[in-house]
Amino acid sequence: MPSTTGPLAAPPYRRLAEQLLAWSERTRRDLPWRRTRDPWAVLVSELMLQQTQVARVQPRYLAFLERFPDPASCAAAAPGEVVRAWDGLGYNRRAINLHRAATVITEQHGGRLPEDLDGLLALPGVGPYTARAVLVFAFERDHGVVDTNAARVIARAVAGGRLTAREVQEHADELVPLGRGWEWNQAVLDLGATICVRRAPRCGECPVAARCAWAQRGHDDPDPADGSAGTSSGQSRFEGSDRQGRGRLVQCLRTGPVELDRLADAAGWPDDPDRARRAADSLVSDGLAEYADGQLALPA
Ligand code: ADE
Repeated sequence: MPSTTGPLAAPPYRRLAEQLLAWSERTRRDLPWRRTRDPWAVLVSELMLQQTQVARVQPRYLAFLERFPDPASCAAAAPGEVVRAWDGLGYNRRAINLHRAATVITEQHGGRLPEDLDGLLALPGVGPYTARAVLVFAFERDHGVVDTNAARVIARAVAGGRLTAREVQEHADELVPLGRGWEWNQAVLDLGATICVRRAPRCGECPVAARCAWAQRGHDDPDPADGSAGTSSGQSRFEGSDRQGRGRLVQCLRTGPVELDRLADAAGWPDDPDRARRAADSLVSDGLAEYADGQLALPA
């Protein structure tokens, strides 16, 4: 029987935990990053999943790991090679951060990922979510992993009201049934991704509907997830954005350097060369590109 150590060990939460775990055993999605405990593979998957949907990550994840099976192989490659392998995932800065993290792991940790929260948090691009995800999904520790989906589930089902970031994390940590952090967090992520979704949650199919704080109040307004810490994933509009132009530039760079007088076309802004140049400058300052010989290129 699941048991937790804090106030959320009380019976209503224990029943909720049991029901969620039982549901998860029946329905858990078979995803490639759930078949490994290799810390590097878990780090790669979690960085990919941070801002990219499961369906998009799935076909690219194993190919990336084949190319970079460990931190040393990634650190040894040019950063531009990692950006090339990040094709199709978007938010390319993550590729640069991953390369930087691989370098730190190789040079300062003997090629192995740190096994403690502070060590993981010190890695480039690794925040509270990713650090705990590695601890839980690779090292099978009992922490609460809070992404937007988990934060929404906790605000609705457990708190029934808005939470601060600290409260969400505290609730998440307390809920973990002892020794079952891996299964538990996968269950919470699945519930948030498939049932307790942002708009029009499928409460009729929810395994914990009978114990959900928000359901018990008849799903009153406002939705407890609204304005609760960590719940608004809202990515800003892509069409016409600077991000779109940067993405187009990086996509061109994947096939080879771009002459500076072709930047505007490559960015998709043929009438705005100044904007294209600013986008290129921002890629350079993020480490995603470099100027060389009158061209923009991926970093060597
Ligand atoms: N999103 C973030 N981590 C995940 C995981 N381990 N499984 C499914 N979706 C995720």
